[in-house]
Amino acid sequence: MSDVLLSARDVTKRFTARGPYGRRTEFTAVDGVGFDVRLGETLAVVGESGSGKSTTARIVAKLMEPTSGALHFEGEDITHATGAALARYRANVQVVFQDPFSSLNPRHTVERILMAPLDYQGIAPKGGRRAYTGELMERVGLNPDHAQRYPRQFSGGQAQRIGIARALAVNPKLVICDEAVSALDVSVQAQVIELLRRLQRESGFSYIFIAHDLAVVKQIAQRVAVMSKGKIVEQGPCGEVFADPQDPYTRTLLAAIPRINPEWDRRRRAAG
Ligand SMILES: Nc1ncnc2c1ncn2[C@@H]1O[C@H](COP(=O)(O)OP(=O)(O)O)[C@@H](O)[C@H]1O
Ligand SMILES: [Mg+2]
Repeated sequence: MSDVLLSARDVTKRFTARGPYGRRTEFTAVDGVGFDVRLGETLAVVGESGSGKSTTARIVAKLMEPTSGALHFEGEDITHATGAALARYRANVQVVFQDPFSSLNPRHTVERILMAPLDYQGIAPKGGRRAYTGELMERVGLNPDHAQRYPRQFSGGQAQRIGIARALAVNPKLVICDEAVSALDVSVQAQVIELLRRLQRESGFSYIFIAHDLAVVKQIAQRVAVMSKGKIVEQGPCGEVFADPQDPYTRTLLAAIPRINPEWDRRRRAAG
């Protein structure tokens, strides 16, 4: 049996924009991208702003159709899934976005927010909504007594924990984190990364972890795909890619981060 949970093959997304004189211009945001996400592993997707990471995430989450290419989940072609097959896929694949405050409805209580994915699936939690909300809040390190509060009553880090709890509410097999820790202060970021790692250990789901900070990627991912201008220019196990980058663009990314620059690490080791 294959240990591949999700595979993307030759996924391409073109956007059409209207140029001067109403001329249509085509722009390829994602260009022939392919990767596998294995059971229980974390695949990081890194690359500069505008390289096509979020568009790839939206396609994988089926929030957007690819122009061409294919997605398989547990061996099943879900590229054009509709109806029951799409609903099942949506329960299995959840997204945590960068800005918790804009992705959580400010007029809804935490309980309503956390129960929304179940309501969408038409599932009633065993033991009732209140109990299940409390359980989810405890799993992400929030006080269950705060279930009737609104997003604005929480700090940024706490609000992101609500976003994570919402993603977990339907027991997904794949969680896509699109720059989910990028906007957080460094100390809060470390706590949320530790939470994400613990949740994965407890539940065994896979992550697609999108980030531009390679130091963060190193803490959470086993494999990494490097995107530049819509293409994956390099991918492989983090250890190999970071120690011996083959693509010039990957080298540039690594050189920008002294903490994980291999040359710097080597010199530091040599210095004892
Ligand atoms: N809905 C859209 N319509 C037109 N262009 C888009 C749309 N979404 C993204 N783009 C463009 O596609 C490119 C890739 O964007 P995105 O996937 O958000 O990159 P990243 O997440 O790596 O910063 C960018 O140039 C962006 O402006
Ligand atoms: Mg993005």
